[in-house]
Amino acid sequence: MAVSDRDMIDAWKQVLTLSRLEAGQIVTVLTSSSTHPQTMATAITAVQMLGAVANRLDLQPVNAEKALSRDALAYLGTTPLTNNRAAIAALKESDMVLDLMTLLFSPEQHEILKAGTKILLAVEPPEVLVRMVPNAADRVRVKRAAERMARAKEMHITSAAGTDLRCALGEFPAIAEYGLADEPGRWDHWPSGFALTWPNEGGSNGTLVIDRGDIILPTKTYVQDAIHVTVENGFVVDIKGGFDAELLAGYMASFNDPDAYAMSHIGWGLQPRAHWSTLAMYNREATIGMDARAYEGNFLFSFGPNNEAGGSRAPACHIDIPLRNCTVALDGEIMVDNGKVMDTEAQPAGNSKFSGAK
Ligand SMILES: [Fe+2]
Repeated sequence: MAVSDRDMIDAWKQVLTLSRLEAGQIVTVLTSSSTHPQTMATAITAVQMLGAVANRLDLQPVNAEKALSRDALAYLGTTPLTNNRAAIAALKESDMVLDLMTLLFSPEQHEILKAGTKILLAVEPPEVLVRMVPNAADRVRVKRAAERMARAKEMHITSAAGTDLRCALGEFPAIAEYGLADEPGRWDHWPSGFALTWPNEGGSNGTLVIDRGDIILPTKTYVQDAIHVTVENGFVVDIKGGFDAELLAGYMASFNDPDAYAMSHIGWGLQPRAHWSTLAMYNREATIGMDARAYEGNFLFSFGPNNEAGGSRAPACHIDIPLRNCTVALDGEIMVDNGKVMDTEAQPAGNSKFSGAK
């Protein structure tokens, strides 16, 4: 569905206001050849309407000769900031960066955040952004989940399909992604709405069953035949099943990197305005699949890097897999019961548009 500029500008104003943008601050809008023109134009207008200064920095795409698809999250290589000290300087001097390019995690991004710059990624199509405009309630709910996660020593995930995985916790921080870059040095992604952490290095053991109907990203496919994944001491050691298992195993093998098989982030979705079914409606190149990552009650896990959390692994391969119908327990306390989030902050589904700021 097409989105009016008016709705996009209002959405940006809500995001920027809840991100505590102040008049007189400097915002740099980071763009590249894949940036959506309406998202960019309305971002710049909203920044100016709030009395801030809007710059635009356009960078050249990278990794095309190595990446296996056009999905920017599929290949984690160098970024347009690598060896680009002029761009880094401009971003470090900005109060806020609106990343409409997909910068991805890198040492350079870490350096920019350390300078106090806020970074907000926003690359989903406008109608997805408008449907999932973050609000103050999202922030409260996701932060509470992350705070609970931060105190846990173990996450245990089970399902009727056969998942039974135990992950030791405590080595890495718990992260709340709620779509607002509201503190100096904070990175976030609009849209999102999930809490996540990383298992201790080598501390995951058990079985993950990716059941029929579960989604694999970045291939953005619904699995037709269950895939049984065995995890030992933090690494995938076996992938069994039919065609879908072969496809997953083949994709991971194509990176020729043992770190592609490491357990990466784990957590659960808390966004009632994201839906498991949305991906079925989209051309796979029209979205990066944030509905799938954020829909309420999923167990979202990942294979690949942990450098974002301070770990040492940085493979180019990064696979996100949200599972339905899982039970997730922290130190024996059930957080998600068979796909239902067991918190008290549950919100009615539906559009939260313009509920936080004008
Ligand atoms: Fe991920």
